[in-house]
Amino acid sequence: MNNLQQLKTIIEEATTKIKSCLTFNELADVKAAYLGKKSVFAEMMQQMKDLQPEDRPAFGQKINEAKTEISDFIDSRRKEIESEMIRIKLEKESVDVSLPGKDIRQGAKHLISQVIEEVEDLFIGMGYSIEEGPEIESDLYNFEMLNLPKTHPARDMQDSLYITEDTLLRTHTSPVQVRTMLRHSAANEPIKIICPGKVYRKDDDDQTHSHQFTQIEALVVDESSSISDLKGTLLVLAKKLFGEERQIRLRPSYFPFTEPSVEVDVSCHKCNGAGCSMCKGSGWIEILGAGMVNNAVLEAAGYDTSRFQGFALGMGIERIAILKYGIDDIRAFYTNDMRFNRQFL
Ligand code: PHE
Repeated sequence: MNNLQQLKTIIEEATTKIKSCLTFNELADVKAAYLGKKSVFAEMMQQMKDLQPEDRPAFGQKINEAKTEISDFIDSRRKEIESEMIRIKLEKESVDVSLPGKDIRQGAKHLISQVIEEVEDLFIGMGYSIEEGPEIESDLYNFEMLNLPKTHPARDMQDSLYITEDTLLRTHTSPVQVRTMLRHSAANEPIKIICPGKVYRKDDDDQTHSHQFTQIEALVVDESSSISDLKGTLLVLAKKLFGEERQIRLRPSYFPFTEPSVEVDVSCHKCNGAGCSMCKGSGWIEILGAGMVNNAVLEAAGYDTSRFQGFALGMGIERIAILKYGIDDIRAFYTNDMRFNRQFL
């Protein structure tokens, strides 16, 4: 067999092997056998020395051509294997468009958050900003500086979940009043804030009470705000929450941190004041407590009461939601029964 014939046979042999390769690994083995250091071509190069010197370049060229041919063929087989693999993969991963889709549920705000945001929107529109305070609060801010010294009988209503002798879970959002006043009094700055948040009391848990609930507090401190500003604010709030036709009624009350203090009733949104089960026949529903900030509180926080005065109000968000949506058990807000929650999406 002369050299050229030998080359031809090698190419044919290689071509058959390459064609039968099904994986990249098999192809790599064939490549090593024909194009690697110890390949048949390497052996043939050894035979060069037996040729006439003038025949050597032509033979060398033939070998190179053969190698290129095999190399090209390996490349094209690699591409074939690749597309075959993609095809198989796609076949496996193909999507059955007739299958029902995944049920992706959209999240939504809890009713309590919705009511908080409704109140926030109203107050932001009237120029208030939002403040927050810690739920673990000092006795000093929660009681003492709100004119509720250690022995004050009004503490009994709230006095409850102590962590240390001087630290407790805040019983109302009013300590945020103190914190805010302390930040602004030195510069004689006015205040117009609301503070939403969780509060904690020793209340027995029943249909209308929970040891943890949510409040929103409002505080205005400036040189001119009077009880008529408080009344106007309360009326706007009542209308926003319970409808344009609502009226309000103020009854004298007592909070140590406000003087005078009032309990605020709103005309019943169910019977329009005629008397029904919602308002227990009176036509009025109590919704919150409020009053003019007590001078003792302003002074303790560093305000000059010959210049500054203001008003505050505080309400329970659950109570508002219960009245607004006719909910009969406060515990429904916390138990996370989706059938309850979904009614208010
Ligand atoms: N802090 C009072 C409470 O929790 C509510 C209140 C706030 C009353 C502000 C008057 C002024 O009962």
